[in-house]
Amino acid sequence: MIRTILWVDDAIVLIDQKALPGKVHYLTLTDWRDVIKAIKDLTIRGAPAIGVAVAMGIALGTLHLPEASVTGFRKSFEGLCRAFAKARPTARNLFWAIERMQRCFAEALPAGIAATKKALVEEAITIGEEDIKINRRIGLNGKAFIRDGDNILTHCNAGALATAGYGTALGVIRAAREEGKSTHVFVDETRPVLQGARLTCWELLEDRIPTTLITDSMAGFLMAQGKVDLVIVGADRIAANGDTANKIGTYSLAVLAKAHGISFYVAAPLSTIDRSIKDGSGIPIEERHVNEVTHLQGVRTAPEKVAVYNPAFDVTPHRYITAIITEKGVARKPFSRSIRGLFEV
Ligand code: MRU
Repeated sequence: MIRTILWVDDAIVLIDQKALPGKVHYLTLTDWRDVIKAIKDLTIRGAPAIGVAVAMGIALGTLHLPEASVTGFRKSFEGLCRAFAKARPTARNLFWAIERMQRCFAEALPAGIAATKKALVEEAITIGEEDIKINRRIGLNGKAFIRDGDNILTHCNAGALATAGYGTALGVIRAAREEGKSTHVFVDETRPVLQGARLTCWELLEDRIPTTLITDSMAGFLMAQGKVDLVIVGADRIAANGDTANKIGTYSLAVLAKAHGISFYVAAPLSTIDRSIKDGSGIPIEERHVNEVTHLQGVRTAPEKVAVYNPAFDVTPHRYITAIITEKGVARKPFSRSIRGLFEV
């Protein structure tokens, strides 16, 4: 299984997703500032993977803090948390990871600074290991939605690379295959950064899962031709009513799926659900650098002076979503009630 991020000998080892699929190589990060840079520049990306990177980054930063005074130690720890909170705005898992590290810090501090450092490292490692177990449970809960021989459409990368391993949306596909079902996956290339073409295709081929790459604008025609049995995607943040932020282009797919009577599934851990936000209008949407749109792999493809808008995510209203598959079970309409129920079990 592909491991996206690991804690090894007081350093963070992560696969360089900017180099894929051309080069498969792992980076070793020993400075927390480099972890923030890696999150910002998409060396590591995908909501659950960002959560793990943030937890490990905070542990790494704390490890190097001076131990002279508890007040200074606490101040520096909170400074680290604030710095990580600014890395990317949309993925709920980023803030979830910070909150979990803050809880761990508060519980460990009475035992002393050295013990707190140790506890934070252990917590970050645990968050990474738990993520894989959670993804496997999402897979088990979702595999029944896939029938033998299904053609599945996915967008962006919600696979092993977007998590600590195994994946959410791709985890459901993996679980169905582990049960012996044959599947074929259509992968949207996912402009502008091509997570589908570069990352999802790469990891599906690594697993020998039959895969066909299409450009984003082809999805509707494939659906009209009867070539798509279901759509499954991941999520960056899910509001209390089920409205879901995911990679730009997801919303169009969901509308198309509805128009063609095709089921549209979201697979995500509970750590992606933000119950403090009542609907999708409250989800902060990241806007990224214009060069992602004006250039392709460093080559300019648009005129110099053109205006550009580059939102990295969109929001799919809950009415287009058939079900949300989590590690605790499957939420269905009405989502406000079923999502609340997931947190009560
Ligand atoms: O900008 P990215 O590559 O971090 O966006 C990732 C996505 O939109 C994924 O679909 C989402 O994080 C789910 S990952 C399991």
